Amino acid sequence: MADSEDITNIALRRSIFYPAAEIYSNSPSGFWEFGPVGEAIRRKIIEFWRKEFVQKEGFVEIYGAQILPEAVFKASGHLTNFNDPIVQCKKCKALHRADQLIAEKIKEIVPESMSIEELSKLIKHHEVECPKCKSKEFTEVRKFNMMMKVDIGATGDIPCYLRPETCQSIFLDFERIYKTSRQTLPLGIAQAGCSFRNEIAPRNTLLRAREFGQMELEIFFNPKKANDFEKFSTIENNEINLMLSEKAGITPIKAKDAVEKKQVSSKMIAYYLAKWQMLWEKLGVPKEKMRFRKLADDEKAFYAAEAFDFEVLTSLGWIELTACNNRTDYDLKGHAKESKKELSVKEEGDSESFIPHIFELSDGIDRPVWVLLDLAFRKEKRGPEERIYLSLAPRIAPYFAGIFPLVKKDGLLEKGREIFKELESHGFDLVFDEKGSIGKRYARIDEIGVPYAITVDYDTMKDGTVTLRDRDSLEQKRVKAEKLPELLWKLQLGLEKF
Ligand code: GLY
Repeated sequence: MADSEDITNIALRRSIFYPAAEIYSNSPSGFWEFGPVGEAIRRKIIEFWRKEFVQKEGFVEIYGAQILPEAVFKASGHLTNFNDPIVQCKKCKALHRADQLIAEKIKEIVPESMSIEELSKLIKHHEVECPKCKSKEFTEVRKFNMMMKVDIGATGDIPCYLRPETCQSIFLDFERIYKTSRQTLPLGIAQAGCSFRNEIAPRNTLLRAREFGQMELEIFFNPKKANDFEKFSTIENNEINLMLSEKAGITPIKAKDAVEKKQVSSKMIAYYLAKWQMLWEKLGVPKEKMRFRKLADDEKAFYAAEAFDFEVLTSLGWIELTACNNRTDYDLKGHAKESKKELSVKEEGDSESFIPHIFELSDGIDRPVWVLLDLAFRKEKRGPEERIYLSLAPRIAPYFAGIFPLVKKDGLLEKGREIFKELESHGFDLVFDEKGSIGKRYARIDEIGVPYAITVDYDTMKDGTVTLRDRDSLEQKRVKAEKLPELLWKLQLGLEKF
């Protein structure tokens, strides 16, 4: 298991991710950039989500604007409700999130719904200290809106905000997409893009950043028909790792039983929870390290009537990856009222129109990168040496194989390039490296999670075979270079084990 610094160290050493504008000392924290390896992993996570959910579930995808006018966030409730409780140390003037300060002191979660008056009282009662200067003197807790304002136009008189969640444009576009995509409800609209939150205390690198990727799925449905969901039968016997309360712990339950016992409000929602679990298993999260934690009323976001946090057990404990929210008709109703536009629909054969409800699977992108790196991190003692590698699922590894000519002379370099070109033409993501000792080249690709290495040596020149090395087991076998495309495809698709 990784310890707290391992992922940051490997990320910086291999340029997987690193602070934005890092050559300037006064760059704000909470902004991260991805190098070639990190971006490849990030892109592959998005592509897999797109394939498994957007395509296979028959959703459509949009790309919305990142800056939206103030009216959108008035209607969505973010202007009033999207606040963090903030407190300032009277001595050193440092700003802190009040709920986090208290939670760290009492080692318990502080409910999001707690009022600022109650938080002020708790700070005094528990004699909370400023983590910076140890003073116990704080201002009263106040609300701090986390949206980032941008004033648009030459005179800056058009108040706008960087979106704090990608889904708002999905809600705004719903009526247009519903009419033009020729789809019926339930209609899933997806979007992958960036969101922005002015976090008071960004921390744990990608886990709490001010700019971050989101891949969100918003499913518009008729609440009267949420149990009339044909696809449910395909997963009704699948177990969902539900956690209804801290006390009850994780209780895997068949989807059909979860619906029958009303632990999940409908077949449609249970179907998507089961499918979501399958998606993350395929991305490399072991089943026993995932759970859907049902949120109590005082933990839910202001727009959610029913909410599960999909959480994964990491070296830092359980981390939320996905907010699974039943947002009811909250969003479309709010936008219809504010914009004075008709956002209700009438389904074929029905006489009455209604405002669709929304179930969302709101996932980060950068957070899963961190979580999957953390789960894949391995540190092993091998004699006096320490071996570090990332056991990433091949489908999200930055490259599928490294190609290494043992030496540059005697035609090995050219042979290596020839094999590289041939495999590249079959669509494999490859990395070529001819420099340094073979051991160092192996170590370098192990650290970025490349599943296989192909070494071209003197035997290759004689009999056309290469060494194929497996990242996790370190096993090696000789295979004919001409058989590599077929073998690598089988390995990639899981049709063959090494
Ligand atoms: N759309 C839900 C969220 O961003 O948390």
